[in-house]
Amino acid sequence: MAETQSQQDPAAQVRVIRKAFEKEFERFARFTTDWNSWAGLDPDAVTAELRQLTDLRTRYLGKKSSIAACKKEIGRVASQDRATFGQLVQQTEAEMLQGIETAERNLTSYVEAQRVERESIDVTLPGRRTRLGHLHPITLLRERVEDIFVALGYAIEDDREIETDFYNFEALNIPENHPARAAQDTFYTMEGLALRSQTSTVQIHAMQRRGAPVRMIAPGRVFRRDTPDPTHNPMFFQVEGLCVDRGISMAHLKGTVAEFLRRMFGPKTVTRFRPSYFPFTEPSAEFDFSCFKCAGQGCRICKQSGWIELGGSGMVHPNVLRAAGVDPEEFSGFAFGLGIDRMCALMYGLDDIRLLFENDVRFLAQFE
Ligand code: FA5
Repeated sequence: MAETQSQQDPAAQVRVIRKAFEKEFERFARFTTDWNSWAGLDPDAVTAELRQLTDLRTRYLGKKSSIAACKKEIGRVASQDRATFGQLVQQTEAEMLQGIETAERNLTSYVEAQRVERESIDVTLPGRRTRLGHLHPITLLRERVEDIFVALGYAIEDDREIETDFYNFEALNIPENHPARAAQDTFYTMEGLALRSQTSTVQIHAMQRRGAPVRMIAPGRVFRRDTPDPTHNPMFFQVEGLCVDRGISMAHLKGTVAEFLRRMFGPKTVTRFRPSYFPFTEPSAEFDFSCFKCAGQGCRICKQSGWIELGGSGMVHPNVLRAAGVDPEEFSGFAFGLGIDRMCALMYGLDDIRLLFENDVRFLAQFE
C-alpha cells in the first residue's frame, strides 16, 4: 500500500510508515517510561524484548527499510516540496529512532541493575571457612594396624593390584580348575590379567624380592566378583601378614595374632583359632577374638556369640615357599589375612559396609 501511495504522494507514504511503526512500537512504549510500570520482569523476558527491538530497528530504520527508500526519494521530489518532504522524512526517522533507543537504554540498564543487585557482595558478612577434610575411616584403621606391626618389627609392603594368574592363583597353590578359584573369582583385563582377589599375592612378591627371613604386612585393595550386600563389596581392603624364618611354628602365629589383637582391642582381649582350609597354608586356621563391646558376654555386635570372626591364617604351604624361591627344608613361616572393611564396620557399629564407599560427607565427617 505504501508503494502505491508513494508514487502519487511521497509524504503520505512517510505518514503510513510512521503509523505502522507506531502500531508495532505500542507494546514497547512502556519501556520508554521509568521502571515502575514494568520492573519485576524477569531477565530472560527483558532479553527477549531487546531482541525484538533490534528486529524492529532493522525493519524500520535499516538500509533496506521503507524510510531509507524515502530518503533516496528526497532528491526526486519537486523542488518547491523538497524541503518540507526532507524535513518530514528526517523528523519521522529521528522520532522512531528516539523511541527505540529510549526503550533499549532503559531495558539495558534495568538488566544491568538487576545483575549488580544479584552479584553484589556484602563485605561486612563473616567469611566462609574452608572445611578441612580428614582421613577416611578405612585409612585411619589401616594406619592403626600398620603402627602395631611396625612396633612388632614388621616391614610394610605395598604392591600391585593387577596381577598375573601366577601370583593370584598358581604360586598360592591354587592350580587351574582348583575349586578355591571359584570362591575368589575376580575381574580380568582383556589380556587375561586379574585384579588381585586377596593380598596373599604380596607374600610371593615379598619373598621373591627380599628372600628369607622376611617379616612384613601388606595392606591393600582387593577385588572379588561378590554382589554388594551389607557385608560384601566387590572391592574391599585386606591386610596380609607374613613371617618366614628358621624354626617358625604355629605358636609364633598364635602369639603374634593374639598380641596384635590385644594392642588393637585392649589387653583383656582373648583370641581363639578354629581349624580351616586355605590352599596356601597348611595347617590353616581362622581366628576370632572376644567381643570388644561385651567382653564375651554376648551382644548385638557379636551376634550374642561373644566372639568376632576376623580372618584366616596358617603355616605357609611348602609349595608356596618353593614358588617364591624359598627352600621349605630350611625355612618355615606363618601368614594371616584379615578384611579391614568388616573390621571397620564392627568397630564403628556400622550395619552396612557399603556406607564406607558411598562418599557421603555427612557420614564420613563422623570419623574425624
Ligand atoms: C583370604 O582372603 C585369605 N587370603 C586370608 C589368609 C591369608 C588366610 C593368609 C591364610 C593365610 P578370606 O577369603 O576369608 O581369606 O577373606 C579374608 C577377609 O576378607 C574376610 O574375613 C572378610 O573380612 C574379608 N572379605 C572377604 N570377602 C569380602 C567382601 N566381598 N567384602 C568385604 N570384605 C570381604
